[in-house]
Amino acid sequence: MESMAEMQGATPPASPTQDDAGLMRVLEALRAARGLDFRQYRLTTIRRRLERRMAAVRASDIEEYLRLLSTRPAEFDDLIDYLTLKVSAFFRDDRTFDLLARTVMPDLWALALRQRRGLLSWSAGCATGEEVYSLAMLLLSQVSQDADPSLTAASLVLGTDIDERALATARLGAYPQARLQDVSREIVERWFESDDSAEGLWRMRQQVRALTSFRSHDLVAEPEAEPADLCGRLFDLVVCRNVLIYMQRPLQLVVLSRLDKRLAPGGYMVLGEAETLPESFRSSYDAIDRRARIFRKRTAVGLDHAT
Ligand SMILES: C[S@@+](CC[C@H](N)C(=O)[O-])C[C@H]1O[C@@H](n2cnc3c(N)ncnc32)[C@H](O)[C@@H]1O
Repeated sequence: MESMAEMQGATPPASPTQDDAGLMRVLEALRAARGLDFRQYRLTTIRRRLERRMAAVRASDIEEYLRLLSTRPAEFDDLIDYLTLKVSAFFRDDRTFDLLARTVMPDLWALALRQRRGLLSWSAGCATGEEVYSLAMLLLSQVSQDADPSLTAASLVLGTDIDERALATARLGAYPQARLQDVSREIVERWFESDDSAEGLWRMRQQVRALTSFRSHDLVAEPEAEPADLCGRLFDLVVCRNVLIYMQRPLQLVVLSRLDKRLAPGGYMVLGEAETLPESFRSSYDAIDRRARIFRKRTAVGLDHAT
């Protein structure tokens, strides 16, 4: 198991060993087949997950697993499923969501009202959608009764991920009761409805779903591969939590600079509680709350949503 310091990039990852050669061949095959490049993720984690997958399909060594990949292309989907950790929760991390509700959303919504435009948020690495819907619920709670409905309609919480299966769950927006355990009764009654299915799922109400959109997007891929929702857009709020932690430091910097380009001046960036904003970004951001990993991009001018 990696230490937290290692996960955060404080300790440089071990240099590749001969054992990594087989792992790299699998990652190369995955990149060739699906265009997803995990070679700069934390190899200890990736290796452990690959071993788990190999055990699940009873592949005794890398050669056997590579043969399986070449004869059963769907195995790539299962491999992606094993390589990506999709743990998430509604309003995950109390302190972060408390500050988002009390400080960030009111500030951004007031700005949107003044500029008579919608508010744009992006959850990068949204997994099964809980983070996206949590942001949408916060935004709707912020919108006052008498606000111009067109501004709400022009608002968006975009969720992106590389895992198609996770995105399918996110789009469905229906969750088993167990996933709502830590959500207050008031919120469940206001924003969820029981779908009366045998599985007893709780579905996000249409009002919340209408604010959201989900897209397949790889934070590691070249920017030209960005979906239309992202191209040339500047967001007021960029939330990328518990994604960078799985990447090696140089890749974290590449991804962060891409996120930074998509964040409007004066907008907010939120990272996971175990992730840090690297030194090289500190001069362009103010820390709103270091523990909650909420940062505000400095600006001399107001938000500019020009493309
Ligand atoms: C642990 S989940 C985090 C979910 C949510 N942000 C949260 O904190 O609750 C990490 C997600 O990042 C996604 N991910 C990993 N690498 C990615 C990449 N290169 N581009 C986009 N998403 C990625 C995974 O598929 C997974 O769904």
